[in-house]
Amino acid sequence: MSDTTNQARQTAPTFDFDFHGPALDTIFDDYEVMHRECPVSWSDRYGGFWTLTRHADVHAAEHDWDTFSVAPSMILPSFGTDRPLIPLDIDPPSLTPYRQILLPFFTPQKMDALLPRTHELARELLDAVEGQEVFDAAPYCRMLPAMVFGEYCGFPMEDAAQFDVWVDDIVFARSDDETVARQAADEVYDYFRDLIAQRRRSPGPDVISALLAADHAGRPLTDDEMLDICYLLFVAGLETTAGTIRAGLWYLGQHADALALLADDISRVPAATEEFLRALSPVQAMARTLKRDTVIDGIEMKAGDRVVLAFGAANRDPERFECPYDVRLDRESNPHTAFGAGAHRCLGSNLARREVNVALAEMILRHTRFELAEPAPWHGIGPLLLRPLR
Ligand code: HEM
Repeated sequence: MSDTTNQARQTAPTFDFDFHGPALDTIFDDYEVMHRECPVSWSDRYGGFWTLTRHADVHAAEHDWDTFSVAPSMILPSFGTDRPLIPLDIDPPSLTPYRQILLPFFTPQKMDALLPRTHELARELLDAVEGQEVFDAAPYCRMLPAMVFGEYCGFPMEDAAQFDVWVDDIVFARSDDETVARQAADEVYDYFRDLIAQRRRSPGPDVISALLAADHAGRPLTDDEMLDICYLLFVAGLETTAGTIRAGLWYLGQHADALALLADDISRVPAATEEFLRALSPVQAMARTLKRDTVIDGIEMKAGDRVVLAFGAANRDPERFECPYDVRLDRESNPHTAFGAGAHRCLGSNLARREVNVALAEMILRHTRFELAEPAPWHGIGPLLLRPLR
């Protein structure tokens, strides 16, 4: 670390910001303090990083990829691998051919075609707990996205229970023990290596077979590229959506008036989904690395410094949102950054939105009134016990 870097960090405001695991219990209190006292600050966690909390700063950084690089990785701490996650960890212009390959898989039309099956699967999952006085909704939140996306991608669904274990180890255990995440990541890469080889022998109507036939600026994808794409789809596509469904049910289970509003008019669910994404997104922050020196809010930052874009804080920025700490299911203007923005804006947002809408709507149609039976965190993978009410 150079002397100037040291000086900048010594004089800059510090805030021990964390955005994983139990830290999520109090993260909204942190945002309140950070917005008020230190919208740009330094944290020593995870090797050290600057945090940006203002909507305007996060948005500007997302669009300035000449300064804010996604290499070596957006993910902090890592998802158990030093390999690039494609396309997440690739800067423009190399990013473009990868997005051109992936975008057609996620068009609104293709995602609409998955809706009937999504409704069907949601009803089946609810049937399985029908009649219980209290039931755990966590499997519903997790299984629905895993089944819809797994089927679409051609991941063998008989392995769904194993997927759950891997995702837990990679996404949730990584900030405590990196070896757990690394071990799981190795297993996932081996799994996809085999699956790609199988699809090469007998292609089907699935995403992996389409990747095998894809054109990357005039050449096929290499096996490594396919592997790195599959790994990202696996870790990006399941827990994120599951977390949003959970957060929505968690909130509705404690706010009878909000639940009644949706039960009276189910067409309000998509606006509610946007508000859950804004206020309670499972992806609270992602990182960049500075390609060159820059100054934000009068603070000098150096090339090589990590910068965390706190999407969750941007989504509660009082300069951008009226009453940002209120969850308003009919919020009219909701320019949240839950899916990021700019070159890397989430490719799965069309799918995620539909899955959350269906999951919430089917639950409400089945149980017009329910409550949280036991306190539970809004985030994570633990039980979410719901009690249907008559
Ligand atoms: C509620 C659920 C989801 C949330 C909150 C979410 C959030 C995000 C965020 C914040 C980014 C980074 C954007 C940026 O830095 O600008 C991202 C990227 C990405 N997401 Fe999602 N995501 C969700 C669901 C999904 C699903 C279902 C998929 C489907 C496979 C998916 C696939 C991806 C991919 C491939 C990228 C990388 C895009 C790129 O680097 O160009 N996501 N997501």
